[in-house]
Amino acid sequence: MLTAEQNELLTQITPGTPMGNLMRRYWQPLMAAAEMENAWTKRVRLLGEDLVLFKDRQGRLGLIKEQCPHRRASFAHGIPTKDGIRCPYHGWEFSAQGKCLNQPNEIDNPAFREKVATDAYPVQELGGLLFAYLGPQPAPLLPRFDGFVAEGTIRMMGRALLPINWLQIMENSLDPIHTEWLHGHHYEFLKEQEGIKVAISAHHEKIDFREFEFGITKHRLLAGHSEDSDDWRTGHPIIFPNILAVGNGDEAARYYSFQMRVPVDNDHTMHLWYNAYVPPKGAVIPAHLTDRVHVYDVPFKDENGEFIVDNVDGQDMMAWITQGAIADRTTENLGASDKGIAMYRRVLKRELKKMEQGEDPIGVLRDEQRNHRIDLPNEKKKHHNSDGFSSFMLRTHAKYSQIAPDLVKIFEPDRVQMDVQRAVAPARDGKKQAGTQAMETQSSATGSLY
Ligand code: FES
Ligand SMILES: [Fe+2]
Repeated sequence: MLTAEQNELLTQITPGTPMGNLMRRYWQPLMAAAEMENAWTKRVRLLGEDLVLFKDRQGRLGLIKEQCPHRRASFAHGIPTKDGIRCPYHGWEFSAQGKCLNQPNEIDNPAFREKVATDAYPVQELGGLLFAYLGPQPAPLLPRFDGFVAEGTIRMMGRALLPINWLQIMENSLDPIHTEWLHGHHYEFLKEQEGIKVAISAHHEKIDFREFEFGITKHRLLAGHSEDSDDWRTGHPIIFPNILAVGNGDEAARYYSFQMRVPVDNDHTMHLWYNAYVPPKGAVIPAHLTDRVHVYDVPFKDENGEFIVDNVDGQDMMAWITQGAIADRTTENLGASDKGIAMYRRVLKRELKKMEQGEDPIGVLRDEQRNHRIDLPNEKKKHHNSDGFSSFMLRTHAKYSQIAPDLVKIFEPDRVQMDVQRAVAPARDGKKQAGTQAMETQSSATGSLY
């Protein structure tokens, strides 16, 4: 249980708040780089700040405050120039560094120009994504985690704007037990109502959490598994402060998967699921699959306004959202099985203190040598992948991807294509998937663990 003050301390991320300052020490993803190909500007709301990402006539990106310092019109409607962007209202021109370059209808006055400089933040591209850094200079390095730099991968990113605070989403990642219930027994109950008997839940004998260079790794010992199992020995990481890295460490079926919980403001979070698949050796991959990150929306409610709980990520979103916009932790009751959450909060508070004492918080990277490629721990034999590629895909956000059928064709060529297309296509509208039942039944002997 937290006091109201402690809850506020850990959840509030708007400018000037302690956690807002901590979040600003890390690069945050904005969108896929491909999304700026046919756009000059995009609005971005990040950490409670309204910003505009723009492209100048030389193709360079800038991220500045949305409102013009003159009389507050939006740069989202700005006119790109060779060196920056002009406000649509009276043409004041600004650079990507926030400098006012000229004020067309004013008598040129360098002091006035300097005074009206606006806030601007650096943007970098990695893994086909654009990242921004809103913290104090000098900016740290953008960490080159394995999945963002692996060569030749097929990349896609699901996206959902969730009406909730970031912390309850992250706490879910320190809570392995929920998979046994939310994705296990709760799912079994849903199927029971359809007259389908499944046994998907896997009991947790033990859970453990260990700190490492970039955050915490999460470990689970499942009933019937040995202490040598990868789920127990290796686990997978929570990268501070707001990323979960799942995926599959097995080189024969390698994929990288990052769930990034980007705080939009105190009660909204942009949830991004970034997956990068390493194609099998010798596979011929069409260029359009690898030349960009394929972005798709992940719905959490259906056309009747009901939560979509037929997939793992929909189940998670239901649990997070029903906790309220900002979970009231003054009325919670943590048990022993919540030790990961307690640890995460302790580490967050410790890192806040470090930052206030002038130190870099955990995972802030400044060593170029360390940043060639950072391999993260990940299970090679992960229990949640054990029912096969398309079966697992259909149980997650990935089924909403427009390239899901292409991926199945590449990674599970034996799978009957019609089944997959039938199942995936209707899912894109957030509607019930008629064709998935057979696959679900088949996959039900194994768990689905995040
Ligand atoms: S409001 Fe932007 S130039 Fe006047
Ligand atoms: Fe989950």
